[in-house]
Amino acid sequence: MIKNKSRREFFSIIGFIGLACGIAGYIYSALRFIFPNILYEPPTSFRIGKPEQYKINSPVFIRERHIFVFYDLQGIYSISSICTHLGCSVNWKHGKESFECPCHGSIFDKDGRVKKGAAPRPLERYAVELAADGNLIVNTGARVDPTYRLKV
Ligand code: FES
Repeated sequence: MIKNKSRREFFSIIGFIGLACGIAGYIYSALRFIFPNILYEPPTSFRIGKPEQYKINSPVFIRERHIFVFYDLQGIYSISSICTHLGCSVNWKHGKESFECPCHGSIFDKDGRVKKGAAPRPLERYAVELAADGNLIVNTGARVDPTYRLKV
């Protein structure tokens, strides 16, 4: 079909296709500007129930939030389950009273401090507050030091 058309017609078609692609790209860019690509993340502050739900010296793992909640004689605290080496999820070892990372063998004490392994930093600790309605609120956006505990 192209054989029968003149050279001028052929380049006109190519030019038209190029122009159409340019206009389509421009429209696509404009629409992307109007509707930006936003990723919605879960809120950093969330309720984890009342203090009575937690037993002393029996840590609770909240999987969907990647945190452990501890209740000991000094109070309640929350600690991240994400290893500071490469981000694997650590496991709590009841008999050893420590966290162990299954990926590269890091071990953390019950306050999240590094006891052994590849992890360069302690596990993150998050602020825990008591709301007016008596519920505990963990704020993963507020990091606290390893001695922090909410007195209840
Ligand atoms: S990810 Fe935990 S030790 Fe490497």
